[in-house]
Amino acid sequence: MTSSISESPLELQPYKSLANEELIARIQAVRDQLGPELLILGHHYQQDEVIAQSDLRGDSYLLSQSAADSTECRTIVFCGVHFMAETADILGNRPEKLAERDGQRVNVILPDMAAGCSMADMAAIDQIEDAWEQLGEVLDTEDLTPITYINSAATLKAFVGRHGGIVCTSSNARAAMDWAFERTSRVMFFPDQHLGRNTAIGMDITEGQMPIWNPYDADLGGNTEEQLQASRVILWQGHCSVHQVFKAQHVEMFREKHPGIKILVHPECPREVFELADISGSTGKILKEVESAPPGSKWAIGTELHLVNRLKEQHPEQEIYFLSPVVCMCATMYRIDLAHLCWVLENLAAGTLVNVIEVDEETAKWSLVALERMLEVR
Ligand code: 13P
Ligand code: SF4
Repeated sequence: MTSSISESPLELQPYKSLANEELIARIQAVRDQLGPELLILGHHYQQDEVIAQSDLRGDSYLLSQSAADSTECRTIVFCGVHFMAETADILGNRPEKLAERDGQRVNVILPDMAAGCSMADMAAIDQIEDAWEQLGEVLDTEDLTPITYINSAATLKAFVGRHGGIVCTSSNARAAMDWAFERTSRVMFFPDQHLGRNTAIGMDITEGQMPIWNPYDADLGGNTEEQLQASRVILWQGHCSVHQVFKAQHVEMFREKHPGIKILVHPECPREVFELADISGSTGKILKEVESAPPGSKWAIGTELHLVNRLKEQHPEQEIYFLSPVVCMCATMYRIDLAHLCWVLENLAAGTLVNVIEVDEETAKWSLVALERMLEVR
């Protein structure tokens, strides 16, 4: 990945002291000027003001698909986190798209380069390669399919592409696992142990068949040879710190206090919560469940705070609660604000690209193999 900054970009600092009304007007002016050449994508966890400026909002799967299908746009401004922008770059600039545009690239911009994902950071490519090599000493890696959650660096997606694997999102993890088990008898799933475990449990795979690989334990990730040989899914020791806050006792408390309440959670939640929940799914599914529920429905929702608060506001006819008493939001998603958005857009309008996310050719080529499989499997 490289970032390209032109010679004299407008400075970010002055934007930080502007009032929201002014930022909104200036963002709108750039949108009017660039028209369909500009596509602003917003993940459901973004703050309301940012979501209001997005042409399209969605979960990771839908946003990847939008980047893959984009036709008119020449710049995608991704209001989300780093791995999402990398994915948009790979899909939006894949060879067939470049050919359609006579070689012209779509520039993908991330308004704040510090908007990463702490879960994605829990698996580095050298750790994955080391684990694979160690696994090769005790298992047949030809009979092992790697699956990476989309919440991972492009280098991990490329690793997966090279080794016959697939990328999944929270909305197609089960289908990706089925896809993998049609090919091999074992799966290695990274970086989110919870999504991997919650998906595999639904396939009658037991906890005992799911050893956890600790990348900081140099000796088989903290496992014995026998444990790995008895495995069906090897889980990486990674998690989302936002979804980690939801506990079984919160579910019990809501059920006791609000009879009839439905517990709706993201599959990044720990198993104890996932198993007690009534419904689980991607952020897109969470949204659809609430939107299609009758007035008077009661929900306790276990996912990022901004999405839950927005649902509360948009559906006053329903009773909606955040599943945890502890306020917890995705701090990196929150880094994208109107000031950063306006700053990158005004630079763009002035012909200056700032915060460009560009995945190197070799990584993009192999990541694409695994991402195209993801888009085929639903
Ligand atoms: P979705 O694909 O469900 O939008 O999830 C993205 C994410 O980062 C959840 O923490
Ligand atoms: Fe990453 Fe968790 Fe934030 Fe999603 S909510 S982007 S998994 S840190």
